[in-house]
Amino acid sequence: MNHFLTIEGLPADDLNGLLDDADEFVEVLHRPIPKVPALRGKTVATMFFEPSTRTKMSFEKAAKALSADTMSFSPGTSSLSKGESLKDTVLTIKAMGTDAMVVRHKATGAPWRIAEWIEQPVLNAGDGAHQHPTQALLDSLTIRQHFGTLEGLKIGIIGDIRHSRVARSDIQAFSTLGAEVTMVAPRTLLPVDAAVFDATASEDLDEVLEDFDVVYVLRVQAERGGASVFPSLSEYTDRYGITKERFARLKPEAVVLHPGPMNRGVEIEGAVADDPRALILDQVFNGVAVRMAVLFRLLGGESNE
Ligand code: NCD
Repeated sequence: MNHFLTIEGLPADDLNGLLDDADEFVEVLHRPIPKVPALRGKTVATMFFEPSTRTKMSFEKAAKALSADTMSFSPGTSSLSKGESLKDTVLTIKAMGTDAMVVRHKATGAPWRIAEWIEQPVLNAGDGAHQHPTQALLDSLTIRQHFGTLEGLKIGIIGDIRHSRVARSDIQAFSTLGAEVTMVAPRTLLPVDAAVFDATASEDLDEVLEDFDVVYVLRVQAERGGASVFPSLSEYTDRYGITKERFARLKPEAVVLHPGPMNRGVEIEGAVADDPRALILDQVFNGVAVRMAVLFRLLGGESNE
């Protein structure tokens, strides 16, 4: 593995191998000193051209827990505002000495372009509405920890799938790991290319809700046009929101996931988000462990044990 750009094409054995490594890093993160020397002397640059709370901070935490140094680029305060190009920005940061670049960008494919310009590993932390591969790993890990396996589980992904890189990566990972995925959304928020997804589609949440072992809730991505395709947010909540009433109708063992950031009261009611069967903060914790697994796979090498 030279880069980590996409879930597409990764076989189940590779996914499970990364999740097995992540399980070991979960154990490290629970130690009194949650740190190993594996990447001492390496530098990881985080370059987020789009806003982020979880993904950026957990990559930084993951790098530090492996004893790597981190450098962080923030577009708002950078020379991008003076007209510097993406390529010059990347080559500048590389010239300072970095061993890996973690990239989030609004343009689909940006991490692949960067991977052509530098020989160091590039990690995709979300590109446009395309891929978010470490999110798919942390979601798979959270579900695997809870149920022991994804094999045979029925997973409903509810909401703005059309604009969601999380949904694209998750559907690929979940179906590769043996789950049956249903995309639930108004037609306008289902992917245009729904037929190419290894998932069935439904527009009627109330009809399919009770089948699910996992309800995966997505934010309506207003910044990508998600809010303009139905009349009002309250109508969306009426038909697709995970309210207390809908939560009460789920199988008793079913769990709720959300990648964050949540819009409480829109796609998920606050009381559901705070229920012990909502695994949202477990997802966040697991995000650190899976990012450690990926960084270690790319930068660890035999000589570093
Ligand atoms: C998501 C993203 O940015 O793709 N958040 C995340 O990384 N956990 C989802 C979103 O913005 O809705």
